[in-house]
Amino acid sequence: MQGLTEVLFRRVYEECFPGALPLAVAPFIALTRNLRFSTDNAQIRDVLPENNHDSIPVVPQILGKEPEEFILLANCLYDLGYNEVNWNMGCPMRTVTAKHRGCGLMPHPDEVRTILDTILPRMHTRLSVKIRLGLKEKDEVFRMVPVLNDYPLVSVTVHPRLGRQQYTGVPDLEAFGQMLPFLKAPVIYNGDICTIEDAHNIRRRFPQVADLMVGRGILYNPTLPLGAVDVSLNKHFIRRLMEAIRTTLPTEESVMRKTKEYWSLLWKALPISEMEARKVLRAQELTTVDNLIEEFIQ
Ligand SMILES: Cc1cc2nc3c(=O)[nH]c(=O)nc-3n(C[C@H](O)[C@H](O)[C@H](O)COP(=O)(O)O)c2cc1C
Repeated sequence: MQGLTEVLFRRVYEECFPGALPLAVAPFIALTRNLRFSTDNAQIRDVLPENNHDSIPVVPQILGKEPEEFILLANCLYDLGYNEVNWNMGCPMRTVTAKHRGCGLMPHPDEVRTILDTILPRMHTRLSVKIRLGLKEKDEVFRMVPVLNDYPLVSVTVHPRLGRQQYTGVPDLEAFGQMLPFLKAPVIYNGDICTIEDAHNIRRRFPQVADLMVGRGILYNPTLPLGAVDVSLNKHFIRRLMEAIRTTLPTEESVMRKTKEYWSLLWKALPISEMEARKVLRAQELTTVDNLIEEFIQ
């Protein structure tokens, strides 16, 4: 997740819970015209092996639809040691979808076929994709599935919301269940897995699902993959993450911004009320933010 599950997070997570998460899909790297594979690009730095050796094993993700740039980036990632990249066909941001990127590709199976025909023979890495049910209508996924089935994809991660819903409403599990038997590649379910019970429910209802992907749930409860909620381990993780933010980011302003970004989700891992949590988000001074968080994770 952009701004959240970047390498700083993944390293602290691996330090606190070694091996608990077998894999993380990195926040997307956006294709740009005349893309140059440069370490000036923070999204590329995020997946450099030297930054990731003590992190959760990672699959880089690409957002975009320009075949030449896609091939170039995928092959640079292969040279770095990656043998899988994930194609983001789920991002719902309007600025993205308007350009037929991310979830904006879902209504265009013919365009996806042309892109896959061009990139797959020239990519050295294998490809997995992440999709939604559609941008505007869930029928879109039923037209996309036969296209995806024609290619040797590692997996298809399905987030059963529409792009126009962004992150609101609930995942459409009925539509997910209808499309599931038609997809040939192993299917990974993603969406609103926030508790262990949520994970069990999806496993029970859809035994043919190959795996689960947790998004915001990993921040709502970092101990979720351990199979039990452990508040004291959650507190330890938050302390280590906050320390890493302070030692990594260059200015007080950036530390404050990043701390609040995480805190807006992470506070749910603690036995505190939303009103208490909001005090941190309203605080103007970094010392106040620090003191409040320290109090909550005592
Ligand atoms: C702030 C934020 C950033 C995200 N960035 C990405 C991203 O870079 N790549 C991606 O595939 N999904 C991204 N997502 C979507 C999540 O991976 C996931 O599909 C979505 O949040 C639904 O799953 P959840 O209910 O488990 O969070 C992002 C979501 C949020 C809230």
